[in-house]
Amino acid sequence: MCGIIGYAGPREAQEVLLDGLRRLEYRGYDSAGLAIVGSSLKVFKDKGEISKLSSSMPQLRGHLGVGHTRWATCGKPSQQNAHPFLDCTGQMAVVHNGIIENHLALRKKLIDEGHVFTSETDTEVLVHLLEKHYKGDLHAALREALKEVKGTYAVVAIRTDGRELVAARKENPLVIGLGVGENIVASDVTAMLNYTNKALYIMDGETVVLGPSKVTIYDVDGRTVHRDPSIITWTVEDAKKGGFEHYMLKEIFEQPTAIHNSLLESLDELESGTLMIDHDAPSIKLVACGTSYHASMVGKYIIEALAKIPTTVELASEYRYSPGTGEGPLTVLLTQSGETADTLAAAREARRRGCPTLAVTNVVGSTIAREVDRVFYTKAGPEIGVAATKTYTTQLMAMYLLGMRLAQMRRAMGRDEIRELTSELRGMPRYIGKVLDRAHEVEAATDMLVPARDVFFLGRNINYPTMLEGALKLKEISYIHAEGYAAGELKHGPLALLDASTPVVAACVKDHTYEKMLANISEVAARDSPILAIGLEGDADLAAVADSTVSVPKVNPILSPVPLTVMVQLIAYYTARKRGCPIDKPRNLAKSVTVD
Ligand code: M6R
Repeated sequence: MCGIIGYAGPREAQEVLLDGLRRLEYRGYDSAGLAIVGSSLKVFKDKGEISKLSSSMPQLRGHLGVGHTRWATCGKPSQQNAHPFLDCTGQMAVVHNGIIENHLALRKKLIDEGHVFTSETDTEVLVHLLEKHYKGDLHAALREALKEVKGTYAVVAIRTDGRELVAARKENPLVIGLGVGENIVASDVTAMLNYTNKALYIMDGETVVLGPSKVTIYDVDGRTVHRDPSIITWTVEDAKKGGFEHYMLKEIFEQPTAIHNSLLESLDELESGTLMIDHDAPSIKLVACGTSYHASMVGKYIIEALAKIPTTVELASEYRYSPGTGEGPLTVLLTQSGETADTLAAAREARRRGCPTLAVTNVVGSTIAREVDRVFYTKAGPEIGVAATKTYTTQLMAMYLLGMRLAQMRRAMGRDEIRELTSELRGMPRYIGKVLDRAHEVEAATDMLVPARDVFFLGRNINYPTMLEGALKLKEISYIHAEGYAAGELKHGPLALLDASTPVVAACVKDHTYEKMLANISEVAARDSPILAIGLEGDADLAAVADSTVSVPKVNPILSPVPLTVMVQLIAYYTARKRGCPIDKPRNLAKSVTVD
């Protein structure tokens, strides 16, 4: 996700900021910029790489400044949309991470009051709000400005006549690095480890005034807060992964936030009837590759269950060679990267066939956005591990949202039913948090998989694709041959392969397939295969037939793929880790497959 750095001290701010930005590159970004207070306030920003920015920038003298790496969410990657933003007088600069939910309403109001906007971003309202509230005290202006804002932020601002910067945090990380005669603020410690290992973590609702030799933290009521610094013992490489051993694990643990962000504005748009599409569709076709294909398979269950619309799923690599008959369905292309060659080709083919197209992607400004009629952006933030994790669960969120939107349009669900489901969705980050709290239990349960040559993943109904995804995760990062199967298909062939050396991972939730699934697990047990079951908390019947059980909180069965997916991700991760595999960069695989 975006990265922030701010500096106040005796060094040339330009050097410290550029160094900090380079260290934040691992978070992923599409543009970068900095603002420095010298004889005046100067801003340099651009689309593309920091190396390009730094080589095109003149030497700027000054000892106070802010820098930013942007991962586009609101407005495409461009020079205009890059941070920092200046107010109309050119005297204040702001950088921001997070989402300002009410930015459209604020922008309109500010424009009516005479402010001139230069970008498409939500962030720009912040600098205009600061300008509006500034009466000689930047910190006071920030506190007033934030009262008008709905959303999440880590925000840092400077003024041309100041020697201090001001900052605030809500649901986006912000940390202060305490140096000797100099101080730094950043979105994570990676950016400051070159200068100090003393860190002060800022909490939600707090604001900060930071100068070269003094840092003051204020609580939500404006009282000063005393906090002792923590000593950071990480290396720069450790810090990049937030202390996690691998990006994949970090990204698995980021899922509560990724899901929260992906739902944030969308649930309001659903409520107001403006989400994703404006026409009902007689049928839906979901098209994707790999993990995104599995999200599409879950999507079929969701759309058919909620909106009662016939839905088909096709692999993007097959779609364009298929005959393509019937009325043009709404064709939904799922691709986290937005650059998968087969999915792009499928999008073109869908349009050639006269189908309305909608893309679901995580990358603003990616190629798919130019190939379709409408785009829905998930907000998982950048994913660095090759194995898709948080981009998958946020694609699932997109499928729930699409299912409800279609159901709303054709009145297949009542307002109360939609409200009930959205409130359960809002609780999803909490449920995922509970699964993550049990990661150590999952780690222990994977011992049975580590020596295996082959593993089967079994599920039924909406969790059949969840187990296909589990098998894909395991094979790509642990190099164990794994197959996902619909449990009812077992007796039609694969049962011949089961014996004591072939473990089975089985998903069993209390939906209408529960009894059948228990029976399938017993069939497996009769062939001596070790069974690792994933079930709901407190399911004694399941525990009785399995060798080992890991459990997820009880949720509405239609939402069960979300916590179950997190469970299979953890199973794959810990198995691969015990086998000593290069988890973030599996052999022969690339994050984005741009060849067909
Ligand atoms: O970027 P996309 O979602 O279009 O990528 C499609 C697949 O290449 C991708 O999902 C792949 O299967 C995952 N990296 C597997 O974890």
